[in-house]
Amino acid sequence: SAADKGGWSSFMAKEISEEPEAVAKTILGRVHDGAVTLTDLDPIAERLQQVDRVIVIACGTAAYAGILGKYAIEQWARVPVEVELAHEFRYRDPVLDSRTLVVSISQSGETMDTLMAVKYAREQGAQVLSICNTQGATIPRESDAVIYTHAGPEVAVASTKAFIAQGVALYLLGLHLATLKGSLTAEQIAEQVAELEGLAPKLQQTIDDASGVAELAKWMADTRSVLFLGRHVGYPIALEGALKLKELAYIHAEGFAAGELKHGPIALIEPGQIVFVIVPSPRDPRSLHPKVVSNIQEIRARGARVIAIAEEGDAAVLPFADEVLRIPLATPLFEPLLAVAPLHMFGMELAAAKGLDVDQPRNLAKSVTVE
Ligand code: G6P
Repeated sequence: SAADKGGWSSFMAKEISEEPEAVAKTILGRVHDGAVTLTDLDPIAERLQQVDRVIVIACGTAAYAGILGKYAIEQWARVPVEVELAHEFRYRDPVLDSRTLVVSISQSGETMDTLMAVKYAREQGAQVLSICNTQGATIPRESDAVIYTHAGPEVAVASTKAFIAQGVALYLLGLHLATLKGSLTAEQIAEQVAELEGLAPKLQQTIDDASGVAELAKWMADTRSVLFLGRHVGYPIALEGALKLKELAYIHAEGFAAGELKHGPIALIEPGQIVFVIVPSPRDPRSLHPKVVSNIQEIRARGARVIAIAEEGDAAVLPFADEVLRIPLATPLFEPLLAVAPLHMFGMELAAAKGLDVDQPRNLAKSVTVE
């Protein structure tokens, strides 16, 4: 009912507005004095010391959160991370042993493909940690340990606040593993914890500043195809932005790694093609910013209409972008957790502009409990 939506036009609008709170609640009690304390992992504490490999399994949006987590866990904890769709994982005879930590991610905790992969991993001797948003759901009950995301109940079929909370949970896990392995100094951990603590207010600012997205969506209501480009942590965000348009607005949308552009996707660019580009920070030590700006120039020269998501003060994108959505300054690993919010809003606004049911898209279920 309208009352449950707390005055919002849809559950999805309400849930996007709760993204900052989802972040704050997911770190609550898990960070203290510049350190991460994940007592959630106590049941697997001994075996965690031995972990030499992480495999993340999930479906849909949760799998994209997993890709994001891969960048953070590898960079901080120096443990190799693979991310695999749960329904592929179980049928390909994966190599697992007691030193493999399998991390399942599921908002509902009931997705059948993910549940079956969790059971399979445990049968093969791996330990399973689950990241879940639903207390007492089946997947956490079948796991060795659980990190609950505290995003609160998510009703809209397309996942929004749960995605961001899953990213935060994976970052907490990465910092916990880095602490165990000694791969980061206490000072380096404290810097990342400060970023985590600053995330919720920055996300609020991002959402407040992105009100122009509704106009953009109205202007694009007849669009038939949208591309999303991102690099490094911007890549899973490009995938997530595209998934939202498929799910909500029934538009053909694809996310690409920006470096892959010249290996195929650039052939899709014709005049008027709309391309969202998640632009890395000019302060990124990997110097990816000029590479992505040159991708923008290449597609612009072929007539693309570019909507850039870029950090405040980044002027290099201005000459080439038709629209710029701004995000506050953050370190590179934290930018995607800001950049995704305007994309969630855009998917919702485009569906609304097309007169579609934002909360209940056709053919989809909130939790898929069949294989
Ligand atoms: C369904 C939903 C998606 C969700 C996926 C995984 O397909 O429509 O929004 O990302 O399931 O759901 P889970 O509950 O396992 O995170």
